[in-house]
Amino acid sequence: MNALYETLTRHLTRIRQITDFTPKAAIVLGSGLGDYADTLRIAAQVPYSDIEGFPVSTVPGHDGCFIFGYIENVPVVCMKGRIHYYEGYKITDVVMPIRLMGLLGAEFLFLTNASGGINTAFRAGDLMLITDHISCFAPNPLIGPNIEELGTRFPDMSHVYDLRLQQILREAAAQQQIPLQEGVYAQLTGPSFETPAEIRMLRTLGCDAVGMSTAVEAIAARHMGMKVCGISCVCNLAAGMTAKPLTHEEVQEAADKAAPRFKQLVTESVRRFGEL
Ligand code: HPA
Repeated sequence: MNALYETLTRHLTRIRQITDFTPKAAIVLGSGLGDYADTLRIAAQVPYSDIEGFPVSTVPGHDGCFIFGYIENVPVVCMKGRIHYYEGYKITDVVMPIRLMGLLGAEFLFLTNASGGINTAFRAGDLMLITDHISCFAPNPLIGPNIEELGTRFPDMSHVYDLRLQQILREAAAQQQIPLQEGVYAQLTGPSFETPAEIRMLRTLGCDAVGMSTAVEAIAARHMGMKVCGISCVCNLAAGMTAKPLTHEEVQEAADKAAPRFKQLVTESVRRFGEL
């Protein structure tokens, strides 16, 4: 058996010792949304550290947790604490939790993140529906022997972000009167922010926002047939677009400020997933 798949099945067995909860949707909580899980009707929690050999965040006190519960009666699993490539993990470890949530039964994957805005029409605090991505500045998470049990060697990526889910997110935003930008998200590895020249390059390439996560997770999820959608919180204008240097604190502050709108949009969207 493929070694990665063997590891995945071992992790799956461990979680199944703790809970038999079957999620319909998986949600990755990005910057500012960490406490979203508090709004769930919680059924079970599994700290990553309870799963032997599972990647845990290198940031002390932030080792991360799967939270199982209900959003408006829709069974979900939330990933509180995501694994970033810049922490030094292998790219296959970065997507391990996504694959695991798929194996736990999640049909839908809702990705959230913080990003820098590249599109000159964007403002700090905007929410952006991810309509497509550029992932080729990060390693492809499918490199290595293909896990046949999950999907095909050469998966199609024509519609990474499911068209029907995109429409649901638009409708949820409109109904809640939450303004929603749309665009292409570029994943770079980080952890340094981009240079102004890199931002000009990304704009020329057709990118609207840039961040350090998400696209590789979307690829792994599509490989195994999950339906994916994503929202990015544009926390700052990207490097060179303002006179100010970028700081993590500024990003965090903007993410926290957008959090109430962001949470409302996630809840309203997931409620609609329940009808699919
Ligand atoms: N660049 C990359 N990642 C980010 C940014 C940025 O400007 N803002 C928030 N995450």
